[in-house]
Amino acid sequence: MWPRATYRPMSRATRVLFVCLGNICRSPMAEGVFRHAAEERGRLDQFETDSAGLGDWHVGQAPDERAQGAARARGVEISGQRARQMRPSDFDDFDLVLAMDEANLTALKRLAPKGREGKVRLFLDYAPDAGTREVSDPFFGDLGGFDTALDLIELASDGLLRALDDETIQPASQNASSTT
Ligand code: 4NP
Repeated sequence: MWPRATYRPMSRATRVLFVCLGNICRSPMAEGVFRHAAEERGRLDQFETDSAGLGDWHVGQAPDERAQGAARARGVEISGQRARQMRPSDFDDFDLVLAMDEANLTALKRLAPKGREGKVRLFLDYAPDAGTREVSDPFFGDLGGFDTALDLIELASDGLLRALDDETIQPASQNASSTT
């Protein structure tokens, strides 16, 4: 019999894409916090990450200053990120496409090619005790909204790391329909 590791899906980094509307507030914070949490656990090499927006208004811009400041206050540096728009190839290139809110989820499911919809999930599915399913958009609100978003993002990042704890299992292989 083959050793267990050799008949499982080829081990590679799990690719996670965080998506919101503008890609200057929630999804850059989510990517930064998730990477920070993975690094703290010595697991950063298990993941490839990126973030994207459904809209194109802020393409090329750094994250909103308020998002940068709120993240920095928690030890997470996101100033180097630049906004980009979601593209069709993202559904092939990533294992998980994580929406920040229900509107993002609906839009992403509509954009996803046939057979790729299963990769699209709400980020807060990984924080079932959060009391909400959405990271609400803090862009038009006050600074407190960024901290609320970060609280939720930290919870979901921990949950996602736990869900992907067995690094050799690709997210797709956890689906009932998977044959792997
Ligand atoms: P995000 O926030 O989706 O969390 O990046 C937003 C940023 C900008 C806009 C909307 C949401 N906007 O309409 O420009």
